[in-house]
Amino acid sequence: MSDQPVDTGKRTWLIASTCAGAVGGVAAAVPFAMSFEPSERAKAAGAAVQVDISALKPGEKMTAEWRGKPVWIIRRTPEQLATLPKLDPQLADPKSQRKPDELTPAYARNEYRSIKPEIFIAVGICSHLGCSPGDKFTPGPQPSLPDDWAGGFLCPCHGSTFDMAGRVFSNKPAPDNLEVPPHMYLSDSVLLIGEDKKA
Ligand code: FES
Repeated sequence: MSDQPVDTGKRTWLIASTCAGAVGGVAAAVPFAMSFEPSERAKAAGAAVQVDISALKPGEKMTAEWRGKPVWIIRRTPEQLATLPKLDPQLADPKSQRKPDELTPAYARNEYRSIKPEIFIAVGICSHLGCSPGDKFTPGPQPSLPDDWAGGFLCPCHGSTFDMAGRVFSNKPAPDNLEVPPHMYLSDSVLLIGEDKKA
């Protein structure tokens, strides 16, 4: 194992840009989380990652890295939360019943797929072939999306769409919702991603 420092920003960008290349470009501007990094050796072994979310404003997203994967943290607005129940009929697995032990921890098996309704945490990797979906938070008609788009994510690789709770729309290539990783709150503003039990 190497103790070489790892450019985590670059690594996550590789996931996004691989997909972007396939479709001629996609906006994926995401600020990276300031986190209290464990050592690279510990991270490679899957150590949990602490993330301070105190600066995250409503409607914003930040990205942390856990086990080499991008983990999104989004502070959803009341308007975004209000759309979620209305979308159930259009979704493949609105109640997160598929592969629950793999994709949705018990504390996130609810309409919002989260512990606190406003804070959504998901692994930003499409359940189809592993591209990283792009943010499409603005509602309304726009390229590659339906006219009644309520805000969510679009995977540029093959067009799968997900709502603001990472739930996949029906009849898309992606079979499953985005994964909600194990996580817990250490305080109101500090999250621990990768672990959900107190030691
Ligand atoms: S990898 Fe996302 S739709 Fe194919």
